Amino acid sequence: VTTPLLAGVSLLITAGPTREAIDPVRYLSNHSSGKMGYALAKAAQQLGAQVTLVSGPVALSTPFGCRRIDVQSAQQMHQAVMAEVANMDIFIGCAAVADYRPAQQVEQKIKKNRDEMTLSLVKNPDILSDVAARPDRPFVVGFAAETQDMEHYARDKLSRKRLDMIAANDVSKQNIGFNSEQNALSVFWPSGETQLPLCDKHSLALQLLQVIAEQYKEKQDA
Ligand code: C5P
Repeated sequence: VTTPLLAGVSLLITAGPTREAIDPVRYLSNHSSGKMGYALAKAAQQLGAQVTLVSGPVALSTPFGCRRIDVQSAQQMHQAVMAEVANMDIFIGCAAVADYRPAQQVEQKIKKNRDEMTLSLVKNPDILSDVAARPDRPFVVGFAAETQDMEHYARDKLSRKRLDMIAANDVSKQNIGFNSEQNALSVFWPSGETQLPLCDKHSLALQLLQVIAEQYKEKQDA
């Protein structure tokens, strides 16, 4: 009998988009489907991990055996992650967090009585950086959706956000990334890299978790 790869490992994953309220009926968001994050949660559970999924609004059902916490905005996602991260071994930030939110919280629906309107935005907290900045940090994995110079931007993010690993995908290609069933990833860590070629998101999730588990164990043994 072999022990599953992630037996006894607790894993926190963010997935999906966030919604930033403009008024009670409108919001800013993006095209993230949550499929990659949910595939990672499902695969990690199958590999024996204890999985907590902090999820933005998606049309997906909770993977078997995973604990799911639903949030809407980046601030709520930040709060939920910080409340859960303390005893986690691995954190994977797979959510497409909105970089900005409307500066004002408007209580009533905005009326169309002006020909022009300006929306003022403020920066959201960076969940991934804040997890990585904790003294008791877990093994931290980020994602990067890039349209050019993938390795350059991914490695820059890896060091700037002080991550242990980053998985980058080229969202300029039509068949991969946002909302598609398939994806391909280039994975970078401080001392190495690997390519995970185009395949369905579940197989890709299993492969990525294998790479994560290797580096996680190496860092623990170091
Ligand atoms: O800097 P960029 O947004 O491209 O970084 C992407 C990575 O950072 C993803 O792993 C994403 O989940 C995470 N992120 C985050 N909080 C933000 C913005 C991005 O955790 N506010």
